[in-house]
Amino acid sequence: MLRIHRALHPFLVAGPPCRRHLTTTVPKKLYYITTPIFYPNAAPHIGHLYSLVAADVFARYQRLRGRDVRFLAGTDEHGMKIQKAALKHFGEPGREREFCDVLSERFLDLGRKANISNTCFVRTSTETHHRAVKDVWRRLYEKGFIYKGNYAGWYSVTDECFYTDAQVGPSPHDPHQTVALETGAAVEWSSEENYMFRLSAFRGALLTHVQASPTSVYPEQYREQVLGWLGAALEDISISRPSARLSWGVPVPADPGQTVYVWFDALLIYISGAGYPWTTLDGALDVQEMRARGWPADLQVVGKDILRFHAVYLPAILLALNGAPYTPDSGGAAPADGARIPIPLPRTLLAHAHWTAAQKKMSKSVGNVVDPMAAMEEWGVDAIRFYLMRIGGRWRGDVDWSAEQLAKHKHEIAAQLGNYFLRIASPRIAARAVPCAPDAQSGLPAPLQRLFGSDSSAQGLEGGEDPNYAQLAMARALPGKVARLMDTYEAGLALAEVMEVLKHANKSISEIEPWARTTPPELVHSTRLVGLETLRVVGACLAPFMPDTAARLLAALDGGDGGEQEMEAFWQRWNGREVKGVKLF
Ligand code: MSP
Repeated sequence: MLRIHRALHPFLVAGPPCRRHLTTTVPKKLYYITTPIFYPNAAPHIGHLYSLVAADVFARYQRLRGRDVRFLAGTDEHGMKIQKAALKHFGEPGREREFCDVLSERFLDLGRKANISNTCFVRTSTETHHRAVKDVWRRLYEKGFIYKGNYAGWYSVTDECFYTDAQVGPSPHDPHQTVALETGAAVEWSSEENYMFRLSAFRGALLTHVQASPTSVYPEQYREQVLGWLGAALEDISISRPSARLSWGVPVPADPGQTVYVWFDALLIYISGAGYPWTTLDGALDVQEMRARGWPADLQVVGKDILRFHAVYLPAILLALNGAPYTPDSGGAAPADGARIPIPLPRTLLAHAHWTAAQKKMSKSVGNVVDPMAAMEEWGVDAIRFYLMRIGGRWRGDVDWSAEQLAKHKHEIAAQLGNYFLRIASPRIAARAVPCAPDAQSGLPAPLQRLFGSDSSAQGLEGGEDPNYAQLAMARALPGKVARLMDTYEAGLALAEVMEVLKHANKSISEIEPWARTTPPELVHSTRLVGLETLRVVGACLAPFMPDTAARLLAALDGGDGGEQEMEAFWQRWNGREVKGVKLF
């Protein structure tokens, strides 16, 4: 009997087993997932919500697989951009913290409203983070990976990024203004004393790492982009700015005249947010502690615009932390295997393209930025989450936000899932279905036993005469398909599989017409049970995407959390009982 119920567990069908089976085989490491930390210089927009939802569907999915998840989000509060925005807002310098306190709260609110299940929300302005940044700085300085130099180049405050001559040009709108070619953001010339990081020493090691790990960057097009960058020489990068220009940030240890460059500081949030420096009492690296807190990160969601920082700069900093001290001959002696070093490199970067509005980049000056709070208010949280992942879940190309498309997709899920639920839950159908005794061997109600055939394990489906066969087969195959796709970060395709099952279910029930007087009661019964099974499986598969809708659906089905014990009772419960009515949409 247990064999049947395990086979019916939505996420036990394929992939790793649930937690109780994991304890002996997999070392105890939190599954660690991160979003970029957002600049709190203005109100959140839909791109921020997209990053949060993308990470959230994987966090929720991993929990369904029985893993404990650390899920980090937060705000990136230092740098020129914030310093300027605060100055503009208050009309006087030095009030950055106050400014960030207010705006950081809005990002927190966004996460709460969107039902994002992050386990921490970290701000770079905290003391713990400052300590971690200073610790990394000191270690790299002592090893010779940081040195003082003179930097002359272009800087964009909007992008918080240094650019070389080759990366800038005149603005198409104003020939007197120089802009970054890639982003179009205004740049200013700066020539100043800075601390530099020996990025150039790590090109070979980074290249080996990305080549050796096909899933280090996903989708492949972005991995190729990274391989392209690493195929050419890497220049050392500036990692500080004079405090006279930038005072809002982490002061460089032992040199108050310099402030740490905002990206160097921000990227370290992923380790500071997971308990870096993980030291034992005698100061050695405590690997058990590091793993228990989640490091290395399993999945990092980032937009394509910040891929270089995550795929090149952060791994280089980590390699430097791990490596032997720099000598001009060794070129840094960087370890070649990023997965096996004491503080390993993150496992997978999931890069995504952008949302546009009317095919144009969203920007405050154009006034086409979509407000995520207003959108959730108007359309509902789950409808927005569904839309973001249904359209944006392939990650690869830019996607356009449109109210018509959103309406269409909201209608799609309401019609497919809502209507099917109403039909299956209808008391009229329950009244027409003939309750029957369970099969003595399998415990399944007889109409289902006929459908499953004599072998009640996952492979045992038989067609027979029952027109519900195809639907049951699809429903039973769904969790495995969804699991395989989610394991390879294809959230959009996973959602498409769920929609296919629902479409087929609606078509099938329309053909069978269990509400018609002429339909034999046994067929009504099997249609109803297959429908309930479809809804149970769909509910579990949709839970990462539409947590609230799925929870209401599963509660109405009384399917509990889908665990084995629950399943033992599931089938018998629906043998002649009515389903609770519930409003799904
Ligand atoms: N603070 C940096 C990240 C530091 S991570 C150590 C940053 N912040 S941001 O607020 O500008 O952007 C945060 C995320 O939102 C990025 O992943 C970015 O790609 C994403 N988006 C910003 N605009 C977007 C769209 N229009 N569409 C989709 N995502 C976009 O960068």
